[in-house]
Amino acid sequence: MIASEFNKRRELLMSQVGKDNIAIIASADTRTRNRDVDYPFRQDSDFYYLTGFNEADALAVFIPGREQGEYILFCQEFDEKKALWEGAHAGLEGATQEYGADDSFPIDDLSDILPGLLENKNKVFYPMGRDPELDHHIMEWITHIRSQTRSGISAPGELVSLEHILHEMRLIKSPAEIKLLQTAIDVSAKGHIRAMQRCHSGRYEYQIEGEMIHEFIDNGLRAVAYPSIVAGGENACVLHYTENKAILNDGDLLLIDAGAECDHYAADITRTFPVNGIFSGAQKLLYQLVLDAQLAAMQEIKVNAPWNKAHEASVQVLTEGLVELGLLVGEIETLIEDEAYKIFYMHRIGHWLGMDVHDVGDYKINEEWRVLEAGMVLTIEPGLYIPVDCSSVDEKWRGIGIRIEDDVLVTEQGYQVLSQAIPKTIAEIEAVMQ
Ligand code: GLY
Ligand code: MN
Ligand code: MN
Repeated sequence: MIASEFNKRRELLMSQVGKDNIAIIASADTRTRNRDVDYPFRQDSDFYYLTGFNEADALAVFIPGREQGEYILFCQEFDEKKALWEGAHAGLEGATQEYGADDSFPIDDLSDILPGLLENKNKVFYPMGRDPELDHHIMEWITHIRSQTRSGISAPGELVSLEHILHEMRLIKSPAEIKLLQTAIDVSAKGHIRAMQRCHSGRYEYQIEGEMIHEFIDNGLRAVAYPSIVAGGENACVLHYTENKAILNDGDLLLIDAGAECDHYAADITRTFPVNGIFSGAQKLLYQLVLDAQLAAMQEIKVNAPWNKAHEASVQVLTEGLVELGLLVGEIETLIEDEAYKIFYMHRIGHWLGMDVHDVGDYKINEEWRVLEAGMVLTIEPGLYIPVDCSSVDEKWRGIGIRIEDDVLVTEQGYQVLSQAIPKTIAEIEAVMQ
């Protein structure tokens, strides 16, 4: 991502924070995995969105209209020994020269410097309740300023959630963001195709996971956007199955929900295909139904359409199909009203997609479903999961789990399926698995 993109974001944020106010946001922390070993560091998405700064122990401050500089970055000072053991880090100079901060200070001096920056400000914007330590410090600093009001200094009177402004910004993706999403998706597509081509009975779920991750890393994307779900047979009915350790059986389906992350942007894609490359009769019928529901949902993706329309379309198609196949019995309308489909379709159609796999942004505004706008990216992922012990349906359906998930960009003209490179129809899947 180019520097000017971060600059633009900061300017937009500051125009909304407004003069005489201040915004504060902290980086993610490193987390211990065990003893001397940390988990791979992943920057906080909000912090990265505004700074592009990929280190822990940092905090950004935005003060619109401040003459000596509006953007202040607290970070770790450059340390030769740290550079030798752990590698490059920006230091105070890098913070201003490479990351566009107007001013930088050591993070260790935060408690000495930040209270001064809060003086005479009206509102403090920050992500409340996310970091108990920061919450505590901010209260402490404000209390400290209040104790000095007799010397003519005023303390901020209002704490405001920064997330509200920031997440509305993040919800609409810029062309540069869409490019990163597309790269994450294209690499994930390679992984899904490789998985289809290298799948056969007798292999283990984790081996297929390995095939996916091979493509991700081989293409330079070393992080998955979320733990991969590689679920053979009835494991697909466990929505967040990540054990991935069962053997794959001839005649079963395999559901793979996996995506790579590219420069903090997530792909989120699911395909379901037969372990042996050929759908059985029952599998074909249910698979086509899920696919029909997905295509019907996509038809509802357009500018100004309420977000829930796609979900409602999927419910309509799935319920009708379940009745036709005999898995549900009754009047379509009543079954929908009573949510009878929820035994087999218990999640919603999808979610916003971006830096976080379940990305930020409200789904309702003033209790009404929000309408779609160009630049929003969302997943469309209907599924059917027939519990293995579901005695109300014929045995042939039991233990089948199917989800088809694509990543979709809302455009002025309608929508664009960013993940369309991956085989999805029955014919396409059977062909690629030949
Ligand atoms: N992979 C998580 C989801 O599909 O929502
Ligand atoms: Mn998914
Ligand atoms: Mn998803």
